[in-house]
Amino acid sequence: MPKSAREILSMKGTKKISVITAYDFTTAQLCDKGGVDILLVGDSGGMVMLGYENTIPVTMEQMCFFTQAVSRGRQNAMVVADMPFMSYQASKSQAIENAGRLVKAGADAVKLEGGVEIKDTVKSIVEIGIPVMGHIGFQPQTTTLQEGYKVQAKTKDTALVLIQNAKALEEAGAFGIVLEMVTREVSKIITESVAIPTIGIGSGPDCDGQVLVVHDILGLYEKIKPKFAKRYLELSADIVKAVTAYRNDVISGKFPSQEHSFSMEKTELERLKKEIA
Ligand code: KIV
Repeated sequence: MPKSAREILSMKGTKKISVITAYDFTTAQLCDKGGVDILLVGDSGGMVMLGYENTIPVTMEQMCFFTQAVSRGRQNAMVVADMPFMSYQASKSQAIENAGRLVKAGADAVKLEGGVEIKDTVKSIVEIGIPVMGHIGFQPQTTTLQEGYKVQAKTKDTALVLIQNAKALEEAGAFGIVLEMVTREVSKIITESVAIPTIGIGSGPDCDGQVLVVHDILGLYEKIKPKFAKRYLELSADIVKAVTAYRNDVISGKFPSQEHSFSMEKTELERLKKEIA
């Protein structure tokens, strides 16, 4: 049985929560086998899967497509799907309708970027029975427009705003909050001041859990290499090596060999040759 929002909530203070992004069936299956608690269908898929510069062009159709594939690949992990830019900001009814679409596509919960300003929207999605994860600190959908990639909560005043945002999400009924690129000291303060789990990305070791983009841990995405992302493999180099070897084998005739071919019975072949002759 996939993990529920209640189970994730109960992990706070007892067991660290592991979250990884996934956008397709095969990767979801492998990450689920790896035992992560949550598969996040992030709108980062727009960048690493579709080649956009940022997450702003990502549509609901694309998120539903990714979510369907991921939910078919998981067995035990909870599936949380990102609500893309402008799929929840216009009105509460727009947010509820789009959250419902993601659940119909296979998500167990949705994630929205924002704090105090989306408190009522989060509340209305939670009230209809869809678990919500918040996302504050660096918010890729809007912070990039306003100030570019920048560490958040470096000053007392910006830290206080972030703490208020975390509390607003907790009050709205969110079951967890992603803290992106927040100074580790402020992440610790937020983690200690809310009763729901914090999931850090570039926010230090004191969060209740951690999330990374799967392409980063596998060393697949070359365009941006964030300082906070630990690369466990360098798959892009291995893939280029494998593809080059394949191409060379095709050119030289080394591939396919007998091992990779199918044969006809000898007698059938002789009968065929006779007939043709
Ligand atoms: O879209 C995404 O992958 C995310 C994570 C970076 C938290 O929101």
